[in-house]
Amino acid sequence: ENVGSVKRQLAHLFEVSLRTTVPSEPDIAPLVEPCAAKSGVKFGDYQCNNAMGIWSKIKGKQAEFKGPPSVGQAIMKNLPPSDIIESCSVAGPGFVNVVLSRNWIAQSLQRMLIDGIETWAPRLPLKRAVVDFSSPNIAKEMHVGHLRSTIIGDTLARMLEFSHVDVLRRNHVGDWGTQFGMLIEFLFEKFPNPEDVNEAAIGDLQTFYKASKVRFDSDPEFKQRAQQAVVRLQGGETRYRDAWKQICEISRTEFHRVYERLGVHLEEKGESFYNPHIPGVLEELNKKGMIEDSEGARVIFLKDVNIPLIVVKSDGGYNYASTDLTALWYRINEEKAEWIIYVTDVGQQQHFDMVFKAAKRAGWLPADDNSYPKATHVGFGLVLGEDGKRFRTRNTEVVRLVDLLDEAKNRSKTALLERDTAKEWPEEEVEKTSEAVGYGAVKYADLKNNRLTNYTFNFDQMLNDKGNTAVYLLYAHARICSIIRKSGKDIEEVKKNAKIALDHEDERALGLHLLQFSEVVEEACTNLLPNVLCEYLYNLSEIFTKKFYSNCQVVGSPEEGSRLLLCEATAIVMRKCFYLLGIVPVYKI
Ligand code: ARG
Repeated sequence: ENVGSVKRQLAHLFEVSLRTTVPSEPDIAPLVEPCAAKSGVKFGDYQCNNAMGIWSKIKGKQAEFKGPPSVGQAIMKNLPPSDIIESCSVAGPGFVNVVLSRNWIAQSLQRMLIDGIETWAPRLPLKRAVVDFSSPNIAKEMHVGHLRSTIIGDTLARMLEFSHVDVLRRNHVGDWGTQFGMLIEFLFEKFPNPEDVNEAAIGDLQTFYKASKVRFDSDPEFKQRAQQAVVRLQGGETRYRDAWKQICEISRTEFHRVYERLGVHLEEKGESFYNPHIPGVLEELNKKGMIEDSEGARVIFLKDVNIPLIVVKSDGGYNYASTDLTALWYRINEEKAEWIIYVTDVGQQQHFDMVFKAAKRAGWLPADDNSYPKATHVGFGLVLGEDGKRFRTRNTEVVRLVDLLDEAKNRSKTALLERDTAKEWPEEEVEKTSEAVGYGAVKYADLKNNRLTNYTFNFDQMLNDKGNTAVYLLYAHARICSIIRKSGKDIEEVKKNAKIALDHEDERALGLHLLQFSEVVEEACTNLLPNVLCEYLYNLSEIFTKKFYSNCQVVGSPEEGSRLLLCEATAIVMRKCFYLLGIVPVYKI
């Protein structure tokens, strides 16, 4: 059971009440939400919104109800006794407002400090998920779109893993396709001896790709050889397979440099992996009568889509869609994943929409989107430059990811060294901190926006130490740690001897917000929206700094023990948020 989620625990109480209140409708689900402030005033912490819906269902059937407010009254009266609730009231058309017990909030926090924040992990109704993310293409550039996919996908995987889901982190690299014929022939030309091939000799693979493309476009004889090379590669000829492997390996080394910096782990299962399974899968779809001929190609027509999904090209080759259909089949049937999540830019939405529709028609996925197994496309918007156009460097080349990360780190290092405190730090600590801050800033600037919107890449903004940035949040965390350090108390001892009390309004506000961590992670997982967690983290830091720490003296006050525990709980929750967002915390500034 997830003891962290206030919402779930309240929902449970309201469920009991609803069964007594409306015995004729045993399936009504409790609708419990945090109270929204109406013109700055809140009537409680949480509210139950069932009264109106129930009224319209049972109007006239239960004589004691005269309207939604009387239903609300009954729901309130039938709540089982519980130490969660301090008081209740009914407002407007039957909303039941709940004020939580301070004591209960305090005890829940205290228990988390002892048992660990893992006890607040959400429980999701599934065992295994695939998160397909990052997925760059061999020999082509890994651009900012891939950076977004990497950052968003990693966070989603972390949140699901925290919620006890077994996550298969999949790098669906583009390692198959006609471009390899050209690359291989070019490789043979440049390095007649395969032993001469290595990263240093080839240099930048993108440049290599461009050069081979020039050769391909200008020499018909080369072009012909390149086209034959594809056939020989697909036929499995050793020399061609080996060359393909060499090219993939060099790309891989490049990708891994980015992953290592970002602290992202994934398992490569590229397009080539699914290739041997394609004929069987297409045969199955064919038997189901789904595949038709159209202008020499083999296609699937789908409801409400005006273009067909091409699964075999007119030259007999497979494509992106045949691979994705097969990968989806594999993930559902072989890997037994219940939720398959694809993180790419919104431009690929129609592709996935068609693949998912085909999978439903084939009976691999249920028609109803709310039951498992399910497949979801997590789309994201563009990264824009200052000029409002697609993010590029001055010479209109695509931005290299490594350069971006270098710059983020260097800028945060410069800012760090301007602080008096950091001047005496050992070199290693400066390096580690500027990496944490720099990479954290890049990640957070991406994650804090709703992923569907485009966002503008701006170093000055993301590295600002004021406002909603990773820098601000990391420093806020470091400051909390230093409050605890400066108290001179051993926090483990304080945990044993002090009791959390939430007598001050701002202590209570902080305590309640901390307690909502669990349901926020659950929401971020369910809706695949990392920005929900960012918003929570930012608000936590604001409540701590602007309310609690401004108005409640910690060190040297009579409430020192309790307040140190609140500091510790805040630091723990912040660190878990950082972890889930892929950000490395700093403890000192
Ligand atoms: N390689 C593709 C690209 O760079 C992304 C692949 C996404 N995953 C998938 N299963 N199609 O656009």
